Amino acid sequence: MAELIASHNLCHAVLALAQTELCEQMAAGAAISEADLRDQRNPQLVRHLLRYLAIRGVLEPDDGSYALTDRGMRLLNETALANLGFYLEAYGHVAQAMPLLLTGEATYGKHVLRDGEALARHCDVLLRHYFTAPVLRALQGSDATFLLDLGCGGGELLIDMCRRRADFRGMGLDISPEAVALARERAAEAGLGDRLAFIVGDAFRPDTWPSDCRQADAISAIGVMHEHFRDGDEAVIHILNRYAALLRDHAKTLILGEPELLYSEGDADLFLVHAFTNQGLPRGPQAWLALLARTDLECRRMVGQPEVGPRFTFYELTAR
Ligand SMILES: C[S@@+](CC[C@H](N)C(=O)[O-])C[C@H]1O[C@@H](n2cnc3c(N)ncnc32)[C@H](O)[C@@H]1O
Repeated sequence: MAELIASHNLCHAVLALAQTELCEQMAAGAAISEADLRDQRNPQLVRHLLRYLAIRGVLEPDDGSYALTDRGMRLLNETALANLGFYLEAYGHVAQAMPLLLTGEATYGKHVLRDGEALARHCDVLLRHYFTAPVLRALQGSDATFLLDLGCGGGELLIDMCRRRADFRGMGLDISPEAVALARERAAEAGLGDRLAFIVGDAFRPDTWPSDCRQADAISAIGVMHEHFRDGDEAVIHILNRYAALLRDHAKTLILGEPELLYSEGDADLFLVHAFTNQGLPRGPQAWLALLARTDLECRRMVGQPEVGPRFTFYELTAR
């Protein structure tokens, strides 16, 4: 139990440090001295946090100043923090509500919700590091210039595509208003507001999408489709067939990016957050290929990133 408590508190302490500007200075190799804490709003608390992190081997104390240890560097790198934020910030409320969800005193979606803004923010980092390259590879050879990104989160994929290609534009659709607000803000900051639009919408109800979506000549759905397994395989097949009809009429390619969930110790936390947020559970490539074979879609190519980052497979799909 002592180990569990220590891990729990360390996770919160690392995330707290990451949210101070001291973290950036330390990550750049600087040591933070007591004098540097003067500008902090609560220097005494920051000092205690640093002392705690030194005890836990995240910081190296040296005569009243602190620098990151190798362990600290690894814990505070961008992707490590995105993983931590995914569980603590995006799914933290859900974990805390587990007792109420178990007894039925609370229902996911009604009384408890994951944090859509935090989910979008942290997925954006993971997407940038691990997934933009395979999506680009999957789109290689296609002459698509207008991508509709379903479950777009914080808009990272579209923003990155537009940065790389001047002829590119896109529309992102997400069920979370917080994610869409973040995506709009980020697109405006990147000076891409005129080439990108983000809207709140349901990826699983194409009949409700604005007509602009139908102008897209490619569609992507990264890390979103498995959520629909909550309604069973037939529901996923039904919606994939709706997408197939769109591909026949307008768009040419659908890039489906899906994580895998292994029933193993390494994936236990991913399993837990999916189960308690009433999502369908992610599946591996064999199960996806079997399901795709029952749809009007044909898988032309599969692109993966074995051994790099979260296990995702990208399926390049066209209408049969
Ligand atoms: C795991 S995140 C992935 C975000 C982004 N595509 C990425 O890869 O970084 C899943 C996203 O799908 C969105 N989502 C879930 N169900 C949705 C639905 N029915 N319609 C649209 N978006 C949905 C969530 O709000 C969230 O932003």
